[in-house]
Amino acid sequence: MQRLVSTPIYYVNDVPHLGHAYTTFIADMLKRYYTLRGHEVFFLTGTDEHGQKIALSAQKHGLSPLEYASQISAHFRSQWDFFDIGYDHFIRTTDSAHVLAVQRAFATMLEQGDIYKGTYRGSYCVSCESFVANHARCPDCQRETSILEEESYFFRLSQYQEPLLEFYAKNPRAILPTSRAPEVLRFIEQGLHDLSITRTSFEWGIKLPPTCKDPKHVIYVWLDALLNYVSALGYPHGEKMGYFNHAIHVVGKDILRFHAIYWPAFLMSLGLPLFKHLCVHGWWTIEGVKMSKSIGNVINAQEVAQNYGKDPLRYFLLREVPLGQDGDFSLEALLRRSNADLSNTLGNLLQRLSGMAWRYFEGRIESAQVLQHYAQDYATLSALFEPLEASMQEMQPHKYLEDLWKVFEGANALIARDEPWKMRDQAKIMALLGLVAALLAKATYYLYPVIPQSARKLADILGLKLEAEAFGRIQENPFLDAFVIAKTPPLFPRLELIQAPKPKTQTISLKDFQKLEIRVGQVVSVEKLEQSDKLLLLRVDFGDRVRVILSGIAKHYAPKTLEGQQVCALVNLEPRKMLGVLSEGMVLSAGDGEHLSLIAPLTPMKNGSAIS
Ligand code: MSP
Repeated sequence: MQRLVSTPIYYVNDVPHLGHAYTTFIADMLKRYYTLRGHEVFFLTGTDEHGQKIALSAQKHGLSPLEYASQISAHFRSQWDFFDIGYDHFIRTTDSAHVLAVQRAFATMLEQGDIYKGTYRGSYCVSCESFVANHARCPDCQRETSILEEESYFFRLSQYQEPLLEFYAKNPRAILPTSRAPEVLRFIEQGLHDLSITRTSFEWGIKLPPTCKDPKHVIYVWLDALLNYVSALGYPHGEKMGYFNHAIHVVGKDILRFHAIYWPAFLMSLGLPLFKHLCVHGWWTIEGVKMSKSIGNVINAQEVAQNYGKDPLRYFLLREVPLGQDGDFSLEALLRRSNADLSNTLGNLLQRLSGMAWRYFEGRIESAQVLQHYAQDYATLSALFEPLEASMQEMQPHKYLEDLWKVFEGANALIARDEPWKMRDQAKIMALLGLVAALLAKATYYLYPVIPQSARKLADILGLKLEAEAFGRIQENPFLDAFVIAKTPPLFPRLELIQAPKPKTQTISLKDFQKLEIRVGQVVSVEKLEQSDKLLLLRVDFGDRVRVILSGIAKHYAPKTLEGQQVCALVNLEPRKMLGVLSEGMVLSAGDGEHLSLIAPLTPMKNGSAIS
């Protein structure tokens, strides 16, 4: 069967972080899970590059929207490559094929009579790119909204209220876990308003199809973005469209409404089949606060994986918290989980098996006599695999893993119970090891979607092929003729917290500090220097005189945004000539390596005020 598995396409105003990695790991897990079951899976991910939010971010960085989007999009791509994510296509909404497909879809909706022209009056949340009627603050993210009054094209969402309710009544598992469905139904039942789907107050978006002859409008970023799921398959007639007959979209709870209401309504309008499942996950928080760039509490998934391993991170994220609920991330919890489950339970089982296989049988384990000695244990332990499929169908990987670990715990308990090192009967030792090897071999296929790198190593150790056909065979009969078990170093070494070295701080005397002359000044004008993409030329008024200061902040501030702002600057720094310009001071800023923010007094002060 052909299936589409997709991640949301990521906004390029944010570099990839652990929250994005989580969404992607879930989709990657589903791809591997279904592939092993013989399905043909098309795994789609990419970046969402249009809209006001991106245009504003680009401006802040002094780049064109496309330059800026290209930079961040490349970050996402390289992050997924680092994690060996098995995506089949990486879409960018600035791709010309996508642009054409969106215009085509717009034209079709128009022909359908689902689009009309009117005026939008109400509020808009730029951060969520969401129309929020009359709210001063966005009901989703609590940020201040802006008031809009614009000519706009509207989509007749109100007409789809009944068809949507009918769809969800007929497809109770369309939203998984099902516990996330009631919020959607409540929203639809409250009544749907027509949706504004074009904007005129900025330009960074897809233009209407030329036949509309209305060049000042760009298409609403959510209509543009959602259509990626079909444009990537060659909408309208591409040969890959078959994958869309069975689509699973992985989405975070924050974007459920867009996917559960707008998207199926658009699909109905276009005469396309609706998705099979929305797999909805919760948020990773840090000490209870959602990870986000604006709060500055983001965790870099790549860094964590470089320090502690890719598979331990994936395992932790998928095992620790029931999918659909929020979870708090900490390195301590990651290490605890990885050491207990991966190093102790699974790692030890493998070490015991390979150790004894070599001690007694030079690595070669025959399974012919397992049933003769261990029929009952085999029946009990292999029954533990049974609930796994249902857990994955319900998008509950934590339950799937919890049950899978019962197999490893059971096998460890069996070894502890029978103490093969005390046994005299070699045939029985062989049968016990044969049983453990068979269980581990079958389990390897179940581990693969979650910890693919380690499952590959396990497959090599046990001599297995991680392919659908081999999986089918082992499901029917886990007793291969013989396992030739390779000697192996521990698969999951115990992890220890890497303490970041504390930067040594040098103390200085008060007298030294008093040598610094730091003053408040007001930025009069700012110029970008042609020769440098880092430096801005600031003219700053310190009351007694205006100084020229060069500052390496061009990547963080667009010149215009600084004019009129107060800043703090060290003014008795030796003047320095850079790029032919004499710089007479240094503006102060706070930086965490990634972000940078200029320092200013909390309330406006007279220019020239001293800082002590
Ligand atoms: N561009 C839209 C999606 C359009 S899809 C047609 C978008 N992008 S996003 O970059 O803001 O978010 C993408 C995904 O990352 C969402 O599923 C979101 O839930 C997820 N996460 C972002 N921060 C997160 C956490 N802190 N925790 C878990 N996932 C979160 O929305």
